[in-house]
Amino acid sequence: TFAPRVFSGIKPSGGLTLGNYLGAIKRFVEMQGGDFETIFCVVDLHAITVWQDPEELKRATREVAAGYLASGIDPEKSILFNQSRVSAHAELGWLFNCVARVGWMNRMTQFKEKAGKNAEKQSLGLYAYPSLMAADILAYHATHVPVGDDQKQHVELTRDIAAKFNHDYGVDFFPLTTPVIEGPAMRVMNLRDGTKKMSKSGESDMERINMTDDADTIAKKFKKARTDPAPLPESLDGLKDRPEAKNLVDIYAGLSGMSAEQVIAEHGGAGWGQFKPALADLAVEKLAPISSEMARLMDDPAEIDRIMARGAERARAIADPIVSKTSELMGL
Ligand code: ADP
Ligand code: NA
Repeated sequence: TFAPRVFSGIKPSGGLTLGNYLGAIKRFVEMQGGDFETIFCVVDLHAITVWQDPEELKRATREVAAGYLASGIDPEKSILFNQSRVSAHAELGWLFNCVARVGWMNRMTQFKEKAGKNAEKQSLGLYAYPSLMAADILAYHATHVPVGDDQKQHVELTRDIAAKFNHDYGVDFFPLTTPVIEGPAMRVMNLRDGTKKMSKSGESDMERINMTDDADTIAKKFKKARTDPAPLPESLDGLKDRPEAKNLVDIYAGLSGMSAEQVIAEHGGAGWGQFKPALADLAVEKLAPISSEMARLMDDPAEIDRIMARGAERARAIADPIVSKTSELMGL
């Protein structure tokens, strides 16, 4: 019997992408003011698991905050804050490092993808990242975590940590959190390589749409997006084995609020010369108001800092007692 509470976060490790918007922020805004208490975070402690220039990290942290606010996260309806300002995250992260098993971390596919052949050269933090993510979620006893598909395995690990803690200490203290991964665009793919996900830390700017891209840039990127030559199929089945085509249909669906089926019903048979400009227009229509509001907020960093400081106070009021109780249960 845990109160319905949502927690989710975004790393300030570069500019926000259309993947972050469709897989995360847009859905956070939709959950706000409903059945859940909503808590959203800029997870700067996760960003430093790989090298970040300190000045750039400060800017990117404010930019993610601006992205949340400009997209409609209302600091009156949700708690919005920076992770490093609430020490409960780092503290519970350590406690969970002592609950999680090395074998569990070894199975994390995201670490393998990020580390590639250089696992030995990565920071210990990058390896332990999912344990800190479990702390982010469980410091609030969050029952639901809206995330993109790439984070599913980490939320499952969060459940494993909660279950092991509850078992080892003979308590029912942490909830088994449910990942919420619903909708057509839960894994937005790279525009140049349909086998990779779109990411803010990807190599080339042409492979992603940034939330701050201007109209011309968005049109150019969709125009150059890799596709096969066939037109859009007349039914959803026709997207099987066409990852690039499926990706653009899913993006259209995510942006418009339609299902992929509805997009195909409306645009089936269209060629790329027709569909790509329609997609670019839709993306500009949705993103332009957000990016102009982001720019306005970024001109007033003191205002962003004020909002985030207030959010951190409210976050501490929930997380500190939970982490104190966790320590006590462990005998500390
Ligand atoms: P990134 O992978 O771009 O660095 P984060 O790790 O900060 O982004 O993820 C923040 C949120 O955005 C998570 O919920 C994640 O699942 C979601 N997300 C990131 N990339 C994508 C994508 N390409 N498609 C859908 N959701 C995504
Ligand atoms: Na990610």
